Amino acid sequence: MEKPTKIAVPRGKLGVLLPGVGAVATTFMAGVELVRTKKALPVGSLTQMATIRLGKRTEGRSPKIKDFVKLARLEDMVFGGWDIFPDSSYEAAAKAGVLDAKHLALVKTFLSKIKPMSAAFYHEYVKMLNGKNVKKGKTKYDIALQVKDDIARFKKKHGCSRLVMLWCGSTEVFMKQHEVHATPESFEAAMKENHPAIAPSMLYAWAAITSGIAYGNGAPNLTVDVAALRQLAQEHNVPIAGKDFKTGQTLLKTVLAPAFKARMLGLNGWFSTNILGNRDGEVLEDPGSFKTKEESKLGALEFILQPHLYPDLYKKIHHKVRINYYPPRGDNKEGWDNIDIFGWLGYPMQIKVDFLCRDSILAAPIVLDLVLFLDLAQRAGMRGIQEWLSFYFKSPMTAPELYPEHDLFIQLMKLKNTLRWMMGEDLITHLGQEYYD
Ligand SMILES: NC(=O)c1ccc[n+]([C@@H]2O[C@H](COP(=O)([O-])OP(=O)(O)OC[C@H]3O[C@@H](n4cnc5c(N)ncnc54)[C@H](O)[C@@H]3O)[C@@H](O)[C@H]2O)c1
Repeated sequence: MEKPTKIAVPRGKLGVLLPGVGAVATTFMAGVELVRTKKALPVGSLTQMATIRLGKRTEGRSPKIKDFVKLARLEDMVFGGWDIFPDSSYEAAAKAGVLDAKHLALVKTFLSKIKPMSAAFYHEYVKMLNGKNVKKGKTKYDIALQVKDDIARFKKKHGCSRLVMLWCGSTEVFMKQHEVHATPESFEAAMKENHPAIAPSMLYAWAAITSGIAYGNGAPNLTVDVAALRQLAQEHNVPIAGKDFKTGQTLLKTVLAPAFKARMLGLNGWFSTNILGNRDGEVLEDPGSFKTKEESKLGALEFILQPHLYPDLYKKIHHKVRINYYPPRGDNKEGWDNIDIFGWLGYPMQIKVDFLCRDSILAAPIVLDLVLFLDLAQRAGMRGIQEWLSFYFKSPMTAPELYPEHDLFIQLMKLKNTLRWMMGEDLITHLGQEYYD
């Protein structure tokens, strides 16, 4: 792809559309409001807190990312969403139990006004949920057109100059690419005949892309990872990115595994288990939804460790991932990892990680960064898969012939170098010989 010559300045309102107004979406919206009213800090967000080094180490140029690439301002964001439950975003946030009473009180008026539009939903794709705030229509195509109408209405009502859609809805049942996903024509025909290979998340994605709106996928769902939607994204000049926010356990996995590989330490096994008690955990009790999440969580190790290149170290890895729904914990997930490594002459060692995390607190800044970077990509004329956003995902989307990059620090370098490239700055290679000439 050619370097963007001109990046449009972010003028006017940026509409943020969220299918799924649950724990993550409400924590994100509440957080943006608390930050822009100066009541909290955007901890965890690169776009708000991180700097980027430009030029040589001796130049001392390290602007904030948001100033360097001119990201949209939080003050210019307006929010909308869809959910199968009619609760306002305030009620949904209160039920999710992520934010404490003090924070909830501060955003009550703001969140109460954001009411979800009726959802494109079919129970067989998320078997643990039943809700009444659901669109009616003869075919999936009719439903997708209703989503397009919702988008157009939202844009007009709020006077948005740009929009981004980011899936914060539930994990759907496991799906593989099907022949109906091959082309935009076969995809549209499949929507018209209510084909089972068209999941609800795909209806939102199709509606967004064909409306010229960037789409990000926060769940492990197949959604935009099919040929037809990739082609439509190219044709409509729309950036797409996914999938599955990299928040807790996998974040640490993609930090630790590169360290073992860097030091040529071997790995026999990695057992990861979780307890969590939020609605996401309940949805993942269904084996179909769990399979989607499991596939997403399992991928990282294989790609980082490259057992085909290092058979002595990584050929026989027992990698297991478990998720257990345990209501008393709510959104405060506990993720345990037992890691069996081996060193010099094959002597075994163990590492235990116990991460008492907060799922949505980790996910919310990722939502913010993805919204702002997808908007930037679109203003810069970048379309199709945005691999430089792999940093944020458990299963990064890539061109079909490429393997995904999972190492967090390679992902970060890729992200920052992409920003430098967009702005015509030198890429940073970390060679550094010039300092010693
Ligand atoms: N929080 C994390 O750390 C994290 C990490 C990675 C991925 N995710 C994914 O993000 C998503 C959201 O997580 P959450 O904790 O907010 O879950 P949640 O259950 O609190 O919220 C999801 C919401 O989506 C709604 N929904 C389901 N299908 C829908 C549809 N077709 N249209 C509109 N709404 C629909 C549900 O009713 C629910 O309110 C999940 O898929 C989860 O797997 C979360």
